[in-house]
Amino acid sequence: MDTPDLTEASVAALVAAGVAAFEAAATTAELKAARIAHLGDKAPLILANRAIGSLPGPERKDAGQRVGAARAELNKVCEERHQLLADAELHERLLAERVDVTEPDSYFPTVGEPHPITALMDELADVFVAMGWEIAEGPELEAEWMNFDALNMGPNHPARATSDTLFIDPIENHLVLRTHTSPVQIRAMLSCDYTGRRRELPIYVVCPGTTFRADEFDATHVPAFHQLEGLVVDKGITLGHLKGTLDHLAAVMFGEGVRTRIRPSYFPFTEPSAELDLECFVCHGASVGNPDAPCRTCNSEGWIEWGGCGVVNPRVLAAGGVDTEIYSGFAFGMGVERTLMFRNGAADMRDMVEGDIRFSQALVGGAR
Ligand code: PHE
Repeated sequence: MDTPDLTEASVAALVAAGVAAFEAAATTAELKAARIAHLGDKAPLILANRAIGSLPGPERKDAGQRVGAARAELNKVCEERHQLLADAELHERLLAERVDVTEPDSYFPTVGEPHPITALMDELADVFVAMGWEIAEGPELEAEWMNFDALNMGPNHPARATSDTLFIDPIENHLVLRTHTSPVQIRAMLSCDYTGRRRELPIYVVCPGTTFRADEFDATHVPAFHQLEGLVVDKGITLGHLKGTLDHLAAVMFGEGVRTRIRPSYFPFTEPSAELDLECFVCHGASVGNPDAPCRTCNSEGWIEWGGCGVVNPRVLAAGGVDTEIYSGFAFGMGVERTLMFRNGAADMRDMVEGDIRFSQALVGGAR
C-alpha cells in the first residue's frame, strides 16, 4: 500500500474541501451526496485513515490524531449543516400543508334537490304549461267512484280486483289508493271555482301525480309510481289533436325526430283507445325480423310502449257533466318512471325508490 499523504497541509486541504462541499449543499439530499464523497467509505480521508497502520510508529500517532480531528471536524460541520437544511425543509413543508382554521369553509353541504322523478314531472308539466294548459290535482286516497265508476269501469270490471287495487276502507267509505291519475279527469270536469261556479269549458289540463297498485316490486314495477295525465275537452276535438300533442311531448322529451305511433287498444274510458309507442331508441327498429341482432329494450319489436290514450268516452264526459252533443275530448296517461328509464337510460326502477343519492347525482349529470 502507498504511504498515505497525511501531512498537516494535505489533511487540512481535505477538511477544507469537505467543509466547502457541505456548505454548498442546498438541500439535505445534496448534503447526503457530499457526505458520502467526503466522509464515506471511499472518501480520501477515510481511505488514508485505513492506511495509517502502515506508517512508522511516531508518525502513525501524529497522523492518527490529525485524521481523527479532521473527521470529527467534518462530522460536526456536516451535522450542523444537516440540522439547518432539515429545519428549513420542514418549515417549507409545514407552510405548504398549513391549515388556516379561520378560513371560511369552502365545503357547502348539499342541501338536496328534487328527486329525478319529481324533476321530470315538473319538466313534463312545463311542456303543457307552455301551451297554456292548466295543472290539475286530485287526492291520492281517492273515491272508488272517481277512480272507477265515473271512468266507465263498473263494479265488476277486472281492474277493481284486489290483485291490482289497494283498497282502503272499502265497506264504509269506498276509498282506494288511486290506481291511475285518470280520476283527475273527472275532478277537472266537476271542479268549481271559489264562487262555486262550475269550471268553464274548454278544459286543457295535465296532472302529474303518484299512483298505486298492488304490484310486484321488480326492475320494471314499483307499487307506488307516477303518471302524467292529460285531458282536453273542447269543440271538434279529434284523434289528430291527440297525436299532434303527444308528438310534441315526445319531441321535447326525447328530441326532435323521435318517431311515435298510436296502436289500437282498449280502455273503458276512451273510445277509440290506443297505446302510444315510441320507436325503440336503442335499435331504431333494426332488430325487427333480425334474429342475429336481437334488442332487449324493445324485445325486437322496434317500438316501446309509453302510455295509453284515446278519445274520451262520451260516458265519461257525461259523468263529468259535459254536454256530449257539443263537446268531445282526448285523454292520455303515461308512466313517469318509464319516461325516466327511456330518456336517461335508468335500467332498474327500484333505484328510483331506494334513496341512494348517487342515483340522483348520476341522472343529474347523466345521459340527457
Ligand atoms: N289510465 C290509464 C292507465 O293507467 C292510461 C290512460 C289514460 C289511457 C288516459 C287512456 C287515457 O293505464
